[in-house]
Amino acid sequence: MEFPDRPTLFDFNGVSMTKYFTDNWDNIQSFKARPDDIVLVSYPKAGNTWVSYILDLLYFSQTSPDRENSVPLHERVPFLEISIPGFPSGVDELNSINSFPRIIKTHLPVQFLPQSFWEQNSKIIYVARNAKDTVVSYFHFDRMNKAQPEPGDWNSFLQRFVDGKMVFGSWNDHVGGWWEKTKTRSNILYLFYEDLIEDTEREVSRICSFLELSSSTDLKKEVTEKSLFNNMKHNKMANGSADEVLDFKISPFMRKGQLYSPPPTVCNKKVISEVEINTTIIISPFFILGKVGDWKNHFTVKQNEQFDEDYQRKMRNTDLRFRTVL
Ligand code: A3P
Repeated sequence: MEFPDRPTLFDFNGVSMTKYFTDNWDNIQSFKARPDDIVLVSYPKAGNTWVSYILDLLYFSQTSPDRENSVPLHERVPFLEISIPGFPSGVDELNSINSFPRIIKTHLPVQFLPQSFWEQNSKIIYVARNAKDTVVSYFHFDRMNKAQPEPGDWNSFLQRFVDGKMVFGSWNDHVGGWWEKTKTRSNILYLFYEDLIEDTEREVSRICSFLELSSSTDLKKEVTEKSLFNNMKHNKMANGSADEVLDFKISPFMRKGQLYSPPPTVCNKKVISEVEINTTIIISPFFILGKVGDWKNHFTVKQNEQFDEDYQRKMRNTDLRFRTVL
């Protein structure tokens, strides 16, 4: 099938969006949540796929062991607002799910979440990642994703990010809006990508507590192991390669990792070297995890200074803090 053109950005109630996320708007807004739904929210490129894989394994790896080998992750965890001609919409996919709980992916800013999720008090997990690594990841993603606007060159992309003119709007508004919401709602768990890298098993335990799951220690360890960067990267059902809109000839979906030793759950980890994952063979006890700090390979000194100045101004009135290095 010929893929539809790359879309253009437009202002949608104060947030930059494309038609692929707004065409089905009435059905998105009238979406009927179920009380046991789990909503996984993030700004693009914050680690949504990683956490969706963790959630899917926690809920289904024991009861439906075939699922992880036969159903691509994006079908197991449908994307609420997506609507691309020729593909089933996220709403339709979600409405056809009979297993429970439904794990629902969304990138919607807090003010756009369908009301029904608040009425049902659905459990919501938000994943946030530092702005610098997010924009780098977003740049490479837009290069390889035919359903996103043309990214242009790195410098203009970075400027567009600073201006908040990205699909799903301003990073600051997104992470900040959801952060503020945690102060009035107890049904939101706010996670950081950097914390997941630092100690995945610890964060898996936090997720289990929040979801009131009595998962065994063995299951948590197994989920942690399966969701390690390199294991996911080579898992065709979880690495994005089953997604037709992504062009892996331009960039992999999961790009870089870092080699750590000893295992992060045992004691403080130390970066041994930076590696391109494609060709790496891991010998225990070294671990390849996702990467914090790839921005250093992209930002010039000048870009970094300008970015920091703008960032400090925008983050002046929030107690939300990110780590850009570990
Ligand atoms: P990079 O582009 O920096 O590699 P999302 O799923 O929200 O689109 O986020 C994608 C980012 O999360 C990518 O970052 C990807 O590599 C990273 N990611 C996905 N799975 C991961 C894992 N298991 N461990 C660490 N990072 C992961």
